[in-house]
Amino acid sequence: MPDSVVNWDGKASTDWDKAVAGRTQRMKSSIIRETLKMMSTPGLISLGGGMPAPELFPLREFQEACRYVLENEGRQALQYSVTEGYPPLKQYLVQKMQKYGVPAEEENILIVNGSQQALDLIGKVFLDPGDPVLTDRPTYLGAIQAWNSYEARFVTVPLDDDGTCVDLVEDILKRDPVKLIYCLPNFHNPAGVTLSLERRHKLVDLAARHGVFIVEDDPYGELRFEGEDLAPIVVLHKENTVYLSTFSKTLSPGIRLGWIVAPAEVIGRLVQAKQAADLHTSIFVQMVVNDICQRGFLRQHVKRIRDTYKERCAVMLSAMDEFFPPGTTWTRPQGGLFLWVKLPEGVDCNKLLQAALEEKVAFIPGHAFYPDEVSGLDALRLNFSAPSPEMIREGIERLGKAIRKQLGEVR
Ligand SMILES: Cc1ncc(COP(=O)(O)O)c(C=O)c1O
Repeated sequence: MPDSVVNWDGKASTDWDKAVAGRTQRMKSSIIRETLKMMSTPGLISLGGGMPAPELFPLREFQEACRYVLENEGRQALQYSVTEGYPPLKQYLVQKMQKYGVPAEEENILIVNGSQQALDLIGKVFLDPGDPVLTDRPTYLGAIQAWNSYEARFVTVPLDDDGTCVDLVEDILKRDPVKLIYCLPNFHNPAGVTLSLERRHKLVDLAARHGVFIVEDDPYGELRFEGEDLAPIVVLHKENTVYLSTFSKTLSPGIRLGWIVAPAEVIGRLVQAKQAADLHTSIFVQMVVNDICQRGFLRQHVKRIRDTYKERCAVMLSAMDEFFPPGTTWTRPQGGLFLWVKLPEGVDCNKLLQAALEEKVAFIPGHAFYPDEVSGLDALRLNFSAPSPEMIREGIERLGKAIRKQLGEVR
């Protein structure tokens, strides 16, 4: 790159905008990643990030599996590999998906670097600039980020306690040539709500009638700590669904391992897109995770995670009852990592964040989860998986204090 465009100290000259592609205008650093940088302030309680509880990471199992793989299959583990994924791990996932009622075969599975890569590859394969994508409002920030890079146009529907307001979807599909419907059916990030079975059926019916693909993003489905499992959308509508899941919330997010389930033709296109991106997901990591899974470790481990998050969620809910002022409302998740708080009238989440940081507690402001970035000023997302129960109680007390202070200012 010529010196005239960017200097070695990183300062851009006036030609910079011409040097980079137009689509970079819409690429932004995630507010969550930015907020996470502030979280190292001593004494600060973070209810912000979406981190699993690190004390539950299965260190010993990883140590043993790494040793086993290196000692027994080391040369294969350190070599290049196929894009589609390590066949024994794919077989494991085929069986896992079949237990959910998803009739997947190996040809329907692609192993990826976390669901985040899946979202990017889906954008690459499905979206031309300006293509409409239907999402909830609010929705997962990482999907907005991924599809902004492909210059998608976001068309949004609101959520309520039963998930996406599916009754509003038909009118949108009638007037807009929607390319993808992005759906977070279980323990929504950020809202914490679950799409009811009736709405799942309605959504599938609408998507089938209008010939639209559904992207079902399901990182939290296994983390249900209350109520009954509901049929995944891919079971109801396998021809037109691209299903995503991940080991991030059940084993570790640092290993960057997830998978896609889709019709073989779709997988074929995604494989080509992935080849161009990174050739394949780390074969060493896939072999290690396969070893851990084949030993049957995951079932008991996931139960421990569920029990832990159930307790933490209950502590957060009762602390909010105790410390939040009247006029504040929140969702009651049946699983997952997050809940969504609506602030009393007049309280702005950006100003509240400043006040909360002074009280040494952090959260993610609601507008981060809206494609237009201006809605959601009256809301925020809280995480209950990472902090201990004591931290959660203390953090909610501090946040309650900050909300009351803001209320004092607006009233
Ligand atoms: C809804 C949703 N989709 C995708 C991801 C990305 O997960 P992964 O770590 O598998 O890339 C997350 C992570 O928090 C998420 O909440």
